[in-house]
Amino acid sequence: MKIGVVGSGAMGSGIAQVASTAGHEVLIYDNNPDALERSRAQLAKIMARLVEKGRLTAEVAQAIQGRITYIDSIFQFRDAGLVIEAIVERLDIKKAVFEQLEDCLADNAILATNTSSLAVSAIASACQHPERVVGLHFFNPAPLMALVEVVPAVQTDPAIAQKCFELMKAWNKVPVMAKDTPGFIVNRVARPFYGEALRILEEGLADAATIDWIMKELGGFRMGPFTLMDYIGHDVNYKVTETVFAAFYYDPRYKPSFTQQRLVDAGYLGRKSGRGFYQYGEGSTTPEANQDHPQAQQLLHRIVVMLINEAADALYLNVATRDDIDLAMTKGVNYPKGLLVWADELGIPYVVEQLDALHREYLEDRYRCSPLLRKMMRDGKTFY
Ligand SMILES: NC(=O)c1ccc[n+]([C@@H]2O[C@H](COP(=O)([O-])OP(=O)(O)OC[C@H]3O[C@@H](n4cnc5c(N)ncnc54)[C@H](O)[C@@H]3O)[C@@H](O)[C@H]2O)c1
Repeated sequence: MKIGVVGSGAMGSGIAQVASTAGHEVLIYDNNPDALERSRAQLAKIMARLVEKGRLTAEVAQAIQGRITYIDSIFQFRDAGLVIEAIVERLDIKKAVFEQLEDCLADNAILATNTSSLAVSAIASACQHPERVVGLHFFNPAPLMALVEVVPAVQTDPAIAQKCFELMKAWNKVPVMAKDTPGFIVNRVARPFYGEALRILEEGLADAATIDWIMKELGGFRMGPFTLMDYIGHDVNYKVTETVFAAFYYDPRYKPSFTQQRLVDAGYLGRKSGRGFYQYGEGSTTPEANQDHPQAQQLLHRIVVMLINEAADALYLNVATRDDIDLAMTKGVNYPKGLLVWADELGIPYVVEQLDALHREYLEDRYRCSPLLRKMMRDGKTFY
C-alpha cells in the first residue's frame, strides 16, 4: 500500500521515515516547497548518521530514502491507500485539506490525522465519507517514540480503526486505542506532571532543581518536569495545557499556570531560546538541587497520586483500557512504570488518602479523587 503524508514538518517527516522504513512507497506533500526541501535534507542527514553508527547499511538507508517521493501537488496522492495529515494545528485548515484529499483519493482510501488537540470527529466532519477518517497520533520524534494513539472519531468505521491498529504494529509501533476526547490518553493523563510540579514551585515548597531531582532520582522519571518543559518549549507545553483546560470546560484539574505563562510572555521558551526555568548555552550553570529536602518523598507522591488520579479517571470514563493507559505512559512519555501498576504498588487506600488530604487542605476541586479509586478502595480491589 502506498502511503501519503501531508505536511513535511517535524512530524510529517518522521512519519514518512517510519512508513518508508516499514517498506512502503511514500508520497510526502507540503504547501511550502522550502519545508519539503528541508525534510529531504534532514532525512539524508539522519540516514547518514545511522549508517555511520552502524545501525543501518548504506543500501538500506538508500532504499529508505528512495521510497520517499516529494510531491508538489495534493493530486499526486491519487493512488495512496492511506494518507496521514500532519499540518499546522488549525481546524479550519485541516478541514479544508481533508475536503481536498477526499476529492483526489480512491473511495476505499483511509484518511488519518496526527492532530494532538483537535477533535478527530470535527476534522472527519469535513468529509463525505467520515467513516474512513481516523486519528493516528504519533509522538515526537516519530521514528524513536514507539507509541501511536489510534483514535476513532464518532463517525469512524471500527473495522478501519482496527486496520490502522494492525498497520501500526506492522510498522513496529506500539498502538493503543483511545477515545476521541481532549488530549486522548497521554496529553490528558500527563497534565499533573507539569501542573502539580508548577503548583509546588509556586507555593514555594521546593525549587525547580529540587523538584526535578526528586522526580528523576526518587521517582525514576527520565527527566524532571522543569527540565522536560524547558525541552518541549514553554510555548508548546503551555498551549497544550490551555487547550486541554478549555476542552474540559475549564475543569480546575487542568488549570494552566501563571508561572509558565510569564515565561512564554518573556520569551523564555526553554532550551530553544537559551532560557526557560534554567539557562542554556555557554557559561550557564545548573542550579543545585537540595537532596536533603525533608519533604522529598511527600512531594514525589503528591505528583504521582495526581497522575494516578488522571489515569484512573481516564479508565473510569472509558478513554482507553487499563493496559493501554499504562502502555501509553510508558511508551509515549517514557514513564518508569504504568500509573495503574504504580497505584497498586502504593496501595489504592494510600492513593485515595493522599488525594483526600490534598482536597481537605486546599478545598479545591482540582484534588477530587476519581470515583473509580474510591470504589476500588471500598471493594478492596486492585488494578492488576
Ligand atoms: N511536534 C510535536 O511534538 C507533535 C506531536 C504529535 C502531534 N503533533 C501534531 O502534528 C501536526 C504537525 O506538527 P509539526 O510539529 O510537525 O508541525 P510543523 O510546523 O513542524 O510542520 C507543519 C508543516 O505543515 C505544512 N503545512 C501547513 N499548512 C499546510 C497545508 N494546508 N497543506 C500542506 N502543508 C501544510 C507547513 O508548511 C509545515 O511544513 C500538528 O497537528 C501537531 O499538533 C505534533
